[in-house]
Amino acid sequence: MADYVGAIDQGTTSTRFMIFDHGGNEVGKHQLEHEQILPKAGWVEHDPTEIWERTSSVIQSALRSAGLQGSDLAALGITNQRETTVIWDKNTGKPYYNAIVWQDTRTDRIATALERDGHGDTIRHKAGLPPAPYFSGGKIKWIFENVDGVREAAEKGDAVFGNTDSWLMWHLTGGKDGGIHITDVTNASRTMLMNLETLDWDDELLEIFGIPRQMLPEIRSCSEQYGTTLANGPLGAEVPLSGILGDQQAATVGQACFDPGEAKNTYGTGNFMLLNTGTEIVRSKAGLLTTPCYKFGDQDCVYALEGSIAVTGSAVQWLRDQLGIISGASQSESLAKQVEDNGGVFFVPAFSGLFAPYWRSDARGAIVGLSRYNTNAHLARATLEAICYQSRDVAEAMEKDSGVKLEVLKVDGGVTANELCMQIQADVLGVPVSRPVVAETTALGAAYAAGLAVGFWSNTDELRENWNESKRWTPEWDDEQRETGYTQWKKAVERTLDWVD
Ligand code: G3P
Repeated sequence: MADYVGAIDQGTTSTRFMIFDHGGNEVGKHQLEHEQILPKAGWVEHDPTEIWERTSSVIQSALRSAGLQGSDLAALGITNQRETTVIWDKNTGKPYYNAIVWQDTRTDRIATALERDGHGDTIRHKAGLPPAPYFSGGKIKWIFENVDGVREAAEKGDAVFGNTDSWLMWHLTGGKDGGIHITDVTNASRTMLMNLETLDWDDELLEIFGIPRQMLPEIRSCSEQYGTTLANGPLGAEVPLSGILGDQQAATVGQACFDPGEAKNTYGTGNFMLLNTGTEIVRSKAGLLTTPCYKFGDQDCVYALEGSIAVTGSAVQWLRDQLGIISGASQSESLAKQVEDNGGVFFVPAFSGLFAPYWRSDARGAIVGLSRYNTNAHLARATLEAICYQSRDVAEAMEKDSGVKLEVLKVDGGVTANELCMQIQADVLGVPVSRPVVAETTALGAAYAAGLAVGFWSNTDELRENWNESKRWTPEWDDEQRETGYTQWKKAVERTLDWVD
C-alpha cells in the first residue's frame, strides 16, 4: 500500500491540500485563498469555479513540493466549509449563481417566515437545527426565488445542489462526463432537509422548502470508498476517494474525540465547539445544534452537540482590513498585550447576527463601555476576549444540555497560535486549554476518514495514539474576576439584540 493519505480542506477563506503519513504527521501542504465576494451588507459569496481551480492547483503544488506523486497516496479525503450552497447544471458544469456562503444573512426573512408559519419545531426536531439563515435549505430557496429558471431546471433534474464537498467530488470523478453526485451525513445534516434519525432527506422537510429530491446528492457515510480520482485529473492517478466530513466534524475526528463527553473547539473565521454524545441523539434545549459527528462505513452514526459561533477570527481580520489598527492577525496579540485588561471595553462582533446559543439574526455588532481613556490596545484585547466569551456561552449551553462538565478543552485552528488568546480562554472558562502537536486537525480528520476506509489505519485506537499535546494553558484568573467579566459580557450581548427589524 502507498505510504501517505491526502486531504482537501476547502475552507471559507482558502483551500489547502495536505499529505499525512501513518503517524498523522504532515509531509506536504499547499494553500491558496479565494475571493470573498461581498455584493451588499450581509451578503457573502464565492465563485465555485475559482474554488475548483484553486483545489486543482493546491493538489499539484503540494505533491510537487513534497516530491510525491498521486500514486503515492493510498486514499484521498475531502473536508469543507459546511452549508455554503452551490447549484450547478450537471450537463455543463456551470453554476447558476455564485456559492452563497454560510455567513450570508440574506435569507433571514425566509428563516423568520419558517418560524412564523409554524415549521420551527418540526425543523428543530427532525433536522436538529433552528430555522436560521446559516443553513443551506433557505439558500436553495432564495436561488429558486431569485434566479430565473433554476427551480424548473431542478425539477427536470438538470440543476443539482451540493455543498463544496459535493462540488469537488463531482469534479474529481469526471464532472459532466460521469462525476458522482454524493455527500456525507455531516454535510447533509446542515441543510435543514436531512432527518437525523433516518440519515436521509426527509419528505416533510423537502415539502416545507419546496425542494425537489432529485436535485440533492446521495447521502453516504463519512468513510467508505465512493469512487476514484481520474488519471488525467489533478492527482494524475487513480486514487480512492474514501472520506468526506464537514470541516468541524473533521476537526473533531482529527482531535481523536471518539468517546462520548470529549469536546474540541476550532478557532477559524468562526468558532465551532463540538461535544461527542455517542450514538445517542441529544436534542438541545439550550440553543445548540444536534448534528452527526461521524459515521464510519456501516457502523452506527455518532452524534454531537455543536455550538457554532459566526465571528471570531474574522473579527481580528476586521481590525486589520476595515479598521486598519493592525497590519496582520498576529499583531492583535502584541497590541492587546500592551494593556493589562480590557479597560472596561466589550466588543460583541455580531456581524452576521448571533449564532449559538442565541440564534438572533436581528443582532448586530456593538462596542460598549468606551471612555476617553481607551485605546486601540483595549479594542484588540476586547476582540480576543470576545472570541473567548462567545466560547464560554456555548460551553455553558453544552453543560446544560449534556450534564457533562468540561474538564479540559482541546483546541485547534489558526487563532490558537495567539498565546494570549488561549490564556484568556483558560481564564474565562476556568479549565485548562490544550493544543495538539498537529494543529491541522481538520485536514487530518478527513485523511483519517479516508484512510480508515482503505485499511491504511485499522481503527480509532490507532488514531488516538497519534494525538499528542504540544501546549497547555491553565487558568490564572480567580473566580471573582471570571464571574465579573462574564456578567459584563452578558450585559454587552443584550445591547446587540433587536437591532434589525
Ligand atoms: O459551518 C461553517 C464552517 O464549516 C466553516 O468553517 O473553518 O471554513 O470557517 P471554516
